[in-house]
Amino acid sequence: MDRVKVFLLPVFIAIVLILFAVSPVPAERGPMTPVAPMMIEHRLIEKILPVIDAVKGEMERTGKVDTAAVAAIVDFFHTYGDEVHHGKEEKIYFHELAKKKIPTAERSLMEELIREHQQARGIIGELAGALDRYEKGDQAARKDIENALGKLPGLYREHIRKEDKVLFLPSLDAFSKAEQQELLQRMCEYDGKMIHEKYRREVMDLRVKYP
Ligand SMILES: [Fe+2]
Ligand SMILES: [Fe+2]
Repeated sequence: MDRVKVFLLPVFIAIVLILFAVSPVPAERGPMTPVAPMMIEHRLIEKILPVIDAVKGEMERTGKVDTAAVAAIVDFFHTYGDEVHHGKEEKIYFHELAKKKIPTAERSLMEELIREHQQARGIIGELAGALDRYEKGDQAARKDIENALGKLPGLYREHIRKEDKVLFLPSLDAFSKAEQQELLQRMCEYDGKMIHEKYRREVMDLRVKYP
């Protein structure tokens, strides 16, 4: 009997150790905050920035424009960067933050960030216009594409740094926990409606052209 116990004890200890090793220790995490979706979106925006540098570098080397890549960059910044991401910031988070009594430095940074969104919209407009001209045979538009591409990475890297590292986390103090959860809920609903709204607009535009 004792020999059985001597054999079983190490087996039992081994099983306990294995179970302990494979069981995840529950992390002490609070609920998701409303800045989390915007910070997650920043990670994808960051991933396209080196692509922009590479597309521009290839243009400079070859003198040719990868029009499909430039069109994809325009679409990304127009739909995801502006409508999805800036839309969430401006129409929900900044909109509600502006109603709160917040430090002057925080308010002026928020206004600076909104001006940068406008600046980004302008650059994407320039890029889309230059691509259109290039595709219609205007070779001089190549330089305008290069210039617009050259402005985007620096603008976004610094913009994201200011939001992630300076504004977002301290600004959460302006909202109660219940308000934070309501903001988060509004962001989820905003995302849910986005794709439907995009294609509803496209169909309506087509119906104006082809009634
Ligand atoms: Fe922003
Ligand atoms: Fe952002």
